[in-house]
Amino acid sequence: MRYSLKKMFIAALAICSTTVHAQKFEGLALTPPMGWNSWNTFQTNINEELVKQTADLFVSSGMKDAGYTYIVLDDGWMTMQRDSVTGDLVADPKKFPHGMKALADYVHSKGLKFGLYNCAGTKTCAGYPGTHGHEVQDAKLYASWDIDYLKFDWCYADGLNAPQSYAAMSKALHDAGRPIIFSLCEWGSNKPWLWAKNIGQLWRSTGDIGAVFERDTAKDGGWHPNGVMTIVDLQDTLYKYAGPDHWNDPDMLEVGNGMKIGEDRLHFSMWCMFAAPLMAGNDIRKMSKETLAILTNKDAIAIDQDAAGMQAFRYSNKDSIQTWFKPLQNGDWAVCFLNRSTKPQSISFDWKKENVQNEFYKKGLHADAIAYKLYDVWNKKNIGTTAKVLNATVASHDVLMLRLVK
Ligand code: GLA
Repeated sequence: MRYSLKKMFIAALAICSTTVHAQKFEGLALTPPMGWNSWNTFQTNINEELVKQTADLFVSSGMKDAGYTYIVLDDGWMTMQRDSVTGDLVADPKKFPHGMKALADYVHSKGLKFGLYNCAGTKTCAGYPGTHGHEVQDAKLYASWDIDYLKFDWCYADGLNAPQSYAAMSKALHDAGRPIIFSLCEWGSNKPWLWAKNIGQLWRSTGDIGAVFERDTAKDGGWHPNGVMTIVDLQDTLYKYAGPDHWNDPDMLEVGNGMKIGEDRLHFSMWCMFAAPLMAGNDIRKMSKETLAILTNKDAIAIDQDAAGMQAFRYSNKDSIQTWFKPLQNGDWAVCFLNRSTKPQSISFDWKKENVQNEFYKKGLHADAIAYKLYDVWNKKNIGTTAKVLNATVASHDVLMLRLVK
């Protein structure tokens, strides 16, 4: 008996030692983080001026007022080697002559927050020094620079265990003592929605996005970024895992990066339906009026930022029209009819006859008992109530996005 108890104790110890000991700062992202990231437009061609100009424009363009807060530098901010004496990461002195602390101070002086990127592996995806084996040292450095957000990638990570690697960095950040949002970026490869809730505030749920609506992978060959619709399709089953302080991240925005305006609108609408982090990925210095109008639509953003933090579920998918529903905190609903086809499509939706229910959320629309007002988020007007059948046309690669107001 004694012997088997001892064996059980040893077995329990062994299990504990492989368990992920996560520790994150709580409450840093009760709604999905909003901001800007350099990668989608600039890749490694980044510098101090770009960050300052972006911060200035966040304030003057209305992006800050719309809720965009975090300015994040992605890959390419470091020198190719750590400091030979201290082992610290070094900000590239050509790109960032005043260093990262001064840049963080500048961004903070605008009432905004500042973020950086690194990788759980031995190198970043662009080949700069990774954090593996330097978690505590790097976390202390970020804290000393007053960084507010860390995106943590997954290149050069052969043989590493994802939950353990990310938990180690999360703990190092926590121990360094500065509240820093921890954004996991392992592309959904190890199903982070199953284990990252206590490790970070957001996790990438897919591979990289590109500024393309629908990608024909058969024709492309090789590595390629995902089209918006591939990512939309991958979100269908993930809504159960998101919520305040732990979000699915379908990748940064490509609004303003070359798709048609309806496609940009669809992309932004769906990210809001998904309660996704809204990290603009365009050149804010050259943004058109149309791009700004999409990125700052306050009704769409209110759906994204809804305090209940419920991610949309797909109600139907037929004849190129997908219909997604998102329950909101005050009993309202957001609805998005998305037209994937290359032609305009007519839709007819009888609210009272459709049975919109979600067992996981324990929510139902009950339009037979409640007449909701229909508010069109993009045309900014009321278009009737759920008492009547909705008949509408949705343009090709575009959406009809409504808020059902109780
Ligand atoms: C990976 C990430 C991207 C970006 C690049 C940088 O591909 O998924 O979002 O950070 O690395 O090299």
